[in-house]
Amino acid sequence: MASGDTLDQLYADFANLNMEGGWHRRFPALWPEPRRNFLPHVWHYAQVKPILDRAGLLVDTTQAERRNLTMFNPVEGNTYSTVRTIVAAYQMIRPGEIARSHRHTPNALRLILEGRGTYTVVDGTRVEMRPGDVLLTPSMAWHSHANDGGNDCYWMDFLDVPLVHLLEPMFYEPHPDGVEADPTRAEVSPIAFRWEETRDRLDAQQALVGLGRPVAVDLGPPQLASIALRMIRVPAGAVTAPTRTTANNIFAVVRGSGRSEIDGQAHIWSFGDTIAVPAWRPFEHFADEEAVLLQVSDAPVLERLGWLRTQTS
Ligand SMILES: [Fe+2]
Repeated sequence: MASGDTLDQLYADFANLNMEGGWHRRFPALWPEPRRNFLPHVWHYAQVKPILDRAGLLVDTTQAERRNLTMFNPVEGNTYSTVRTIVAAYQMIRPGEIARSHRHTPNALRLILEGRGTYTVVDGTRVEMRPGDVLLTPSMAWHSHANDGGNDCYWMDFLDVPLVHLLEPMFYEPHPDGVEADPTRAEVSPIAFRWEETRDRLDAQQALVGLGRPVAVDLGPPQLASIALRMIRVPAGAVTAPTRTTANNIFAVVRGSGRSEIDGQAHIWSFGDTIAVPAWRPFEHFADEEAVLLQVSDAPVLERLGWLRTQTS
């Protein structure tokens, strides 16, 4: 050591240059396996719906671009993301309302919970939305929503906004005309996965594996670049295989009720609930009555990077 010099002086000089010694980190940069940062959590639709109804009376769609309630994970310091890369939200639209058209970098999808008479317009195509349907809004596609029916309509949105925040390529643009003029109506659309079709595919899987066992079908193609979608049916009394994965997952309850064991803790759920299962938290789902869950995950991102590891026992 040079005379008079000290390690403390060396560290102070590093810090003045915005540098830190690799042997002297305040926080480690590497660790043996994924940390369990985000927390498992369940949001209950029965609690959310009255809040959305109150918002429906207090906030109209001229005030709010979207009348939605995002679900932020209760991990300390977080105010937005549901899991690390994905945000989920409940949204309600009242009869006669229009949610104006816009487009943005984040990929989005919707799962319709309740209400009929709503439609979405995606890149000039008008597609009706009904309960159990899943509709995609790929990155930078124009999209608006409207309710021509007589009832309030409720759905869930899932977006990769937190991933865009991490990587920074955010662009957002309102449509210059408010909404797209003269959209083409389409009952069949590649961006719409109809409940009846999904149910039939699940039935076909069930016939293959036999009654009483969980079955799953992937939605797509087309697929969003960053989000994989799978519909899972768990018969009454059945349980899914215990799983641990580097992918972040959100499960939405499309039908039925049950509970999930996530990292050793039980979380009960029923129709419309949202279950956050952050990366590397072991999980399995038990159905009390026949349940259908929509699995929304960032697996495509991890897979493309070679970082997807999934253990199923
Ligand atoms: Fe949007």
